[in-house]
Amino acid sequence: MPNRREVIAGAVALPALGLGGQVGAAAPPILRAAPERVRLAPEDYPETEVWAYNGQVPGQTLRYEQGQVLEVRLENALPEQDSTIHWHGLRLPNEMDGVPGLTQAPVRPGEAFDYRFALRDAGTFWYHPHAHSVEQISRGLAGVLVVDEPEAARPDVDGDEVLVLDDWRMASDAVIREDFGAWHDMSHAGRLGNYVTVNARPEYRRKVARGERLRLRLVNTATARIFTLRFRGMRVWLAALDGMPLETPGEVEEVVIAPAQRTDLLVDLLAEPGEEALIASVERDGTYALAGFTVTGPGGVARDAPAALVPNDMPLLEPEGARAVPLVMEGGAMRGLPEGAIWRGNKMEMRALAEAGQFWAFNGMAGMGEAPLVDAFLGETIRIPMTNRTAFSHAMHLHGMHFREVMNDGSLGPWRDTLLVAPAEVREIAFVAETPGDWMFHCHMPSHQMSGMMNWIRVS
Ligand code: C2O
Ligand code: CU
Repeated sequence: MPNRREVIAGAVALPALGLGGQVGAAAPPILRAAPERVRLAPEDYPETEVWAYNGQVPGQTLRYEQGQVLEVRLENALPEQDSTIHWHGLRLPNEMDGVPGLTQAPVRPGEAFDYRFALRDAGTFWYHPHAHSVEQISRGLAGVLVVDEPEAARPDVDGDEVLVLDDWRMASDAVIREDFGAWHDMSHAGRLGNYVTVNARPEYRRKVARGERLRLRLVNTATARIFTLRFRGMRVWLAALDGMPLETPGEVEEVVIAPAQRTDLLVDLLAEPGEEALIASVERDGTYALAGFTVTGPGGVARDAPAALVPNDMPLLEPEGARAVPLVMEGGAMRGLPEGAIWRGNKMEMRALAEAGQFWAFNGMAGMGEAPLVDAFLGETIRIPMTNRTAFSHAMHLHGMHFREVMNDGSLGPWRDTLLVAPAEVREIAFVAETPGDWMFHCHMPSHQMSGMMNWIRVS
């Protein structure tokens, strides 16, 4: 029998064998990105080769308490592709943001990178690569990060569950289609899948007692699919968006979750004993159950509406009189870029742009330029009115900071990090440039991001 000491010493070698971290004090817990075979499709199909963190899709839910320090080592064991981890929605130091070429060097195959930062905010966040995003996220690299409120500040619920909504584009033999660079996806609605999953299963199931109240953390990790959810047999309150609590939880009948967005719901299961409460996804061709809660009796009583979650410490945001930097979104199928656009410093015609795989522009420029879209000073408040002149919706995401929407009457919407902007809409956001560094601002449909819809903001 090895003694305890030897076991721990031996553990240092384990990560290289792919057995994961979590042991020994010296090395931080490891997320190892590597190919793996998992059961994704129903039982009568073969397993699917995915790319996974520590062999799991979605990646393991990382769970910490607010104020703790996250420490994770990314090991890149992918075949021939650089990777990184972006901690989506986290307010963190710029060098931990995981954007290759902007905030860190790419992590090459066989290399590792240590992420380490304090968790300022409680809430529901997620992590994913920020390199070859269409391919790496579509193949399965994504996981949830839950930061719990301190014990005394947690809501009074009977359960706290993570539901990762995703879709996969698979052939009939359950193999992921490798058409990650398809121009049709880039120039239209992005790379939509043909198989929808919750936590990588066709349906989420749970038994509950009537009257139970659950906190459900919904995360959309799909690269293009916008989920519209409806409910049966439950009362539903919206408690947080993109990790940030709402001032008052509002009762809702429908919830829309765009790619990268998170929605924390507080739900009371009120279906009759023996019946099933459902969360269903409204698709073009019908409404499909995504989650089923089998209710057992005897019933509990209906409760009062839930109290608000404890807010995070957000900056004071006063957009009035602040500098506005307008953003005009153009391009894509149907509208195109009739004026052409600048790409890598050169003004190009639409046809040449398309040949280079560029279909979209922000303010007449495809992709990142030498100069940032916004050069903000530390502490400055910035407004960005976004005009969507394309024929598609875009999930606009700002790194490192959360923003609020400025409504027509001047009131402010909830704190968010990703806002869905529909065709013909003008939606204005405002934020405080509270952390120095270079921060990405892009559409979170990676097919759009890689084909023009990405820019960056400098805070110094
Ligand atoms: Cu979740 Cu720049 O991304
Ligand atoms: Cu988009």
